[in-house]
Amino acid sequence: MDHFTYRNGELHAEDVPVAEIARRFGTPAYVYSRATLERHYRAYDEALSGRPHLVCYAVKANSNLAVLNVLARLGAGFDIVSAGELERVLRAGGDAGKVVFSGVGKQEWEMKRGLEAGVRCFNVESDTELDRLNRVAGELGVKAPVSLRVNPDVDAGTHPYISTGLKENKFGIDIAQAPAVYARAAELPHLEILGVDCHIGSQLTSVAPFLDALDRVLALIDTLAGQGIRIRHLDMGGGLGVTYQDERPPEPSEYVQALAERMGDRSLELILEPGRSIAANAGILVTRVEFLKCTGHRNFAIIDAAMNDLIRPALYGAWQAIVPVRPHQDGEDRAWDLVGPVCETGDFLGKDRSLCLAPGDLLAVRSAGAYGFVMSSNYNSRNRPPELMVDGDQVHLVRRRETLEDQLALESCLPEAEGGG
Ligand code: LLP
Repeated sequence: MDHFTYRNGELHAEDVPVAEIARRFGTPAYVYSRATLERHYRAYDEALSGRPHLVCYAVKANSNLAVLNVLARLGAGFDIVSAGELERVLRAGGDAGKVVFSGVGKQEWEMKRGLEAGVRCFNVESDTELDRLNRVAGELGVKAPVSLRVNPDVDAGTHPYISTGLKENKFGIDIAQAPAVYARAAELPHLEILGVDCHIGSQLTSVAPFLDALDRVLALIDTLAGQGIRIRHLDMGGGLGVTYQDERPPEPSEYVQALAERMGDRSLELILEPGRSIAANAGILVTRVEFLKCTGHRNFAIIDAAMNDLIRPALYGAWQAIVPVRPHQDGEDRAWDLVGPVCETGDFLGKDRSLCLAPGDLLAVRSAGAYGFVMSSNYNSRNRPPELMVDGDQVHLVRRRETLEDQLALESCLPEAEGGG
């Protein structure tokens, strides 16, 4: 459930008409709902309340400081994949002691920063990364808390670009090799083994692959116990899907309950890293129709948002609902392709959408709170849109619209040529 609903014939974000937001801040614009973010986070936290747990929101899904701050105030932990994300968490008031540091290519300076800040755990993805972390921790005179990300070789049944738990994916340590890698880790003087981690993919719509992965990881934990290695936490990663169209993914409570049943009375702390299921349906992208262009073949609605603002449709062929902000009371629906101003045929946010449109209409692309703004770019030298957070009847500008000056600030021309050369 989310807080983007129609009232008096127009779309509202919580208590604020979306058209009012567009009038004040222009379009395109990302609009988030605080109440929805909180609701989704609490769904996990409450479902896990009977056992030791930590919900580490996956920062990559939406790393706006205000989003992180809303979650930090609820006591959330965070899953980060770079020193940049760590800095965001700290600036947003997050607790480094509740941060897990994931990612397949951590650099030395990032490890150092993580250790200095006191992150809760490093999710290590290879034996060579273990050596690097051991060395960096040794130089700082500390022990690095680690968990190995294992690759359980299960098919998440999701888009190949966001499927991560198969042998052919770059992620994690082959689960069959894991006992040997743990044995090595146990010998390294500057590491402390805390847990086991896995993440098998994103936008999963059934619990079965998670449970397959869990069974394999629990078997590994038993093997490790036999080797004298005690595992204190189990991190199952993120990946729970959301409804974009007609998917029916399990609710966080059903997912958590299924995991808890399989874990029985093991005293493991359970860590989860949900991103999309917290943020996706807590955001919309508001855009305006610039032109309608009907050729003999197709009807194009040219809108002011483009693939640089929201790349999921172009990159994954993702489908996101596109709804009118103020639906027309009369008029006929037609099938429209919603395309942006960028010079690429792949620049569409939706195709064949049945809508009644007039130039100037406002539209909302739903489920845009996760992997939306964070994947945006300046392609075609377009300014990235602002981000707004609605809280009840208040709208807060939590990132202003970029300007051309912002874009140009990091660049320079070559020096003037000397001697006319
Ligand atoms: N933990 C790890 C280690 C991850 O790699 C990810 C996502 C998550 C947690 C969070 O997964 P979630 O709960 O959001 O599914 N850009 C793609 C999604 C990429 C996901 C990458 N990893 C999209 O727009 O669909």
